[in-house]
Amino acid sequence: MIETMRNRIEEIVEQACAADTNIFGYDIWTHHILKVVENTKQLASRFDADPEIVEIAALLHDYASIKDKALYADHHIHGPIEAEKLLKRFGYRKEKREAVKNAIATHRASVRVEHRSAEGACLANADAMSHIEQAPSLLYLAYMHHGMGIDEGRVWVKAKIQRSWQKLREDVQDLVRDKYEAALKTL
Ligand SMILES: [Fe+2]
Ligand SMILES: [Fe+2]
Repeated sequence: MIETMRNRIEEIVEQACAADTNIFGYDIWTHHILKVVENTKQLASRFDADPEIVEIAALLHDYASIKDKALYADHHIHGPIEAEKLLKRFGYRKEKREAVKNAIATHRASVRVEHRSAEGACLANADAMSHIEQAPSLLYLAYMHHGMGIDEGRVWVKAKIQRSWQKLREDVQDLVRDKYEAALKTL
């Protein structure tokens, strides 16, 4: 049952990534969403987080902005609304829906760390970790999507990677320190 629901959610998010209306392009599926899912699997036990909740939350965490670019700025607010609609349709239990929605609502840097659940902290770290591991995706975003010049894009990506680093818990920083230092050196 859970497996089927997870697969259906996966299909729905992948389809949204493939749609023409997705301003980030299909790459956000392969180079961000799936990487964040992978990272939550790696981090769940470290955070004492429920692996099922974090996986569903990882699949859905940026879904609102992928579906509709107008929702990008507040996608941590619209994400839980979209998640509720989907998860309810699949008959997912209320307390599990709440846990997924809470993790999505707190995945961004603007949320104070002490307000996160274990699952929210796991997702926020998995998301930030993927930015550090995926510097080429950020460069693509800067040049192709935001139309920045070479130096402007480089500075923007560097700042984004530094902010992501600050979001990481210390033990997670240790996991990606090599990649972080290499990215900073290159940028
Ligand atoms: Fe996000
Ligand atoms: Fe994300």
